[in-house]
Amino acid sequence: MPPLCTSLRALRTSQCPSTLLRVPLSRSIAKSPFLSPARRYASTQSEAAADARSVVTRLKNLLYGTSITLFLTFSYIYVTDTRSSIHQYVSVPALRYICSDAEDAHHFGTKALKTLYSLGLHPRERQTPKEKSGRDTDIGVDVFGEKLICPIGTSAGIDKLAEVPDALFALGAAIVEVGGTTPRPQPGNPKPRVFRLPGQNALINRYGLNSLGADDMARRLRERVRIFAKKEGYGADGEQLVLSGQAGVPPGSLQKGKLLAVQVAKNKDTKDGDIEAVRADYVYCVERLAPYADILVVNVSSPNTPGLRTLQAVEPLTRILEGVVGAARAVTRSHAQTPKVMVKVSPDEDSDEQMEGIVEAIWKSGVDGVIVGNTTNRRTLPETSVISSKEKEILKETGGLSGPHMFERTLGLVKRYRKLLDQGPPAHDGEKESTSDGGVASALTSAKDSVVAAVRGPSGRPSRDQKVIFATGGITNGKQALEILNAGASVAQIYTALIYGGVGTVTRIKKEIKKEIEEGEKSVSRRLVVA
Ligand SMILES: Cc1cc2nc3c(=O)[nH]c(=O)nc-3n(C[C@H](O)[C@H](O)[C@H](O)COP(=O)(O)O)c2cc1C
Repeated sequence: MPPLCTSLRALRTSQCPSTLLRVPLSRSIAKSPFLSPARRYASTQSEAAADARSVVTRLKNLLYGTSITLFLTFSYIYVTDTRSSIHQYVSVPALRYICSDAEDAHHFGTKALKTLYSLGLHPRERQTPKEKSGRDTDIGVDVFGEKLICPIGTSAGIDKLAEVPDALFALGAAIVEVGGTTPRPQPGNPKPRVFRLPGQNALINRYGLNSLGADDMARRLRERVRIFAKKEGYGADGEQLVLSGQAGVPPGSLQKGKLLAVQVAKNKDTKDGDIEAVRADYVYCVERLAPYADILVVNVSSPNTPGLRTLQAVEPLTRILEGVVGAARAVTRSHAQTPKVMVKVSPDEDSDEQMEGIVEAIWKSGVDGVIVGNTTNRRTLPETSVISSKEKEILKETGGLSGPHMFERTLGLVKRYRKLLDQGPPAHDGEKESTSDGGVASALTSAKDSVVAAVRGPSGRPSRDQKVIFATGGITNGKQALEILNAGASVAQIYTALIYGGVGTVTRIKKEIKKEIEEGEKSVSRRLVVA
C-alpha cells in the first residue's frame, strides 16, 4: 500500500508517491460540490489552459526529441561516411594541430579508429544507389585467384601492429598490408623519427621498423579470427574452419573480394652478413604469421635498417625468399590457397643490373610477385616545387622520403619490372622464356582499352604464370592509379596520400578511377560514331 502524503507541498507538486493522490490539484478542486458555479467555471477554464500548456509542452518535447534524434542520425551517417569532406578538411588539420609530432598524430589516429571500430562508429565506405543497382562501373581486378573489389590498397607502416586491419578495409581498400614486423620486439630509432613536409604533402620517416614482434602480431590476428568465427556462429572448431578456408572467405582478410597482406622483416641486430641468421628471422615471422595472411610480404627495402637493402643482391635474396616460400607453402589449408609471397623492393636500387638481379631471385625462389617501391633516400623534388626554408631544413633529416613527387619514378619502375618479369625466368643459355600473353600494358591499343583494361586486364585476367605487381610511391589520385595499372601493376597502394587526405582518400581515388573509365569509354564511343 503506497504511503499517504502528509504535506500539502508534496501534494501540489505532485511528488506524492501515492498513485491515488497524483490527480492534478486544480481538477479535483474544480469538481468540488462546495464551489460556486462562477468559481467552478473559472477553475475549468484554468484547467483547460493547463491542459493546453501541457499539450504544447509535450509537442515541444516531441519536436526537440525528434530533432535531436534526426540530428544524431544524420551526424552519424555523415561522419561515418568516407565521402564526407569533414574528414579531409576538418579531421586532418585538427589532428595536425592537436599533435605537433607526426608520430603522435599517427598513434592518436590509430587509437581513434580502433575505438570507433569497436563501437561501430568507424568511418566506412557506403554503397551509392548506382552501386547498389549494379549499374556502376566495375573496377574489380583478379589478383591471386580472388576477384578484388577494386585495385586500391593501403601500404605497410600504416598499421604496424595489425591493430586496425578491419577498420582499414572498411575505408574501401581491397588490400590492407599490416606490419612490418620483426621476429623479436625492437624499439626502432629514437624519437622524433617522423617529419611532415606539409607544403609538399610529403613525409620523412626513420622509424627503423619498431615492432612488438611476430608473436605479438600473431596473437592479435588469431584473436581477430576467433572473434570473427564466434560472431559467425561457427562453433567450437570455428577458428580452424576459418583458417582452412571452409568458411568461404580468405583466411586473412575474412571478407570476399579483399586480401590481407602481412609484412615481415629482420631484426636490426641480426647481422646482414650472416645470411642463414637473416633467413631464419624471416622464416620465424612467416611460421608465426602465415596462417593469418593471404599474402606475405618480404621487406628488404626499408631504408632505415642499416644493411637491409644489401639483401636485394641475387644470392642473399634468393636464399631468403626460398626460405619464406617454403614456410608459406607449409601452411595447411584444405579449402583455400596457401598464402602468396611478394617481395617489396626499393625504388633506389634501380640500375638495370640491380633490377635484373631481383627479378632473377624472384624466378629462382618461386615468389609470386613484387611490390615496387618504398620510401626513398633521394631528395630530388620537382624543380617547380616551392619549398620553405623550414622544409629545406626538414629535408636534411635522415630517413625515407615519401609523397607525390615519387609518382613518376614509381611509374617508370613498374614499367621496367613488368617488362623484365614478362620475359620469364632466365633459361640456362641466357635466353628468356616468355610467360605472359603480352603483358597488361602492351596488349592495349585503343583509348578505351587503355583505360578499361587497366583494371580488367586485356583478357580479363593476367596470364597464368605472370608475376603480380603492386605499386607504391606517390600515388595520390585516380588518374595516377590508372596509369600505374596500365603500366602493368594489379594494385596501387597508398600511404602518404591517406595521411594528408584523411579516411576518405581510398573512396575518392576509386571514384576518380570510375570517372576516368567512363570518360574514356564516352570519348571512344564518340569517335566511333564520327567514324
Ligand atoms: C611513416 C611511414 C612508415 C612506413 N613504414 C613502413 C614499413 O613498416 N614497411 C614498409 O615496407 N614500408 C613502410 N613505409 C613505406 C610505405 O609503405 C610506402 O611504400 C611509401 O611511403 C611510398 O608510398 P606513398 O608515397 O604512398 O607514401 C612507411 C612509410 C611511412 C611514411
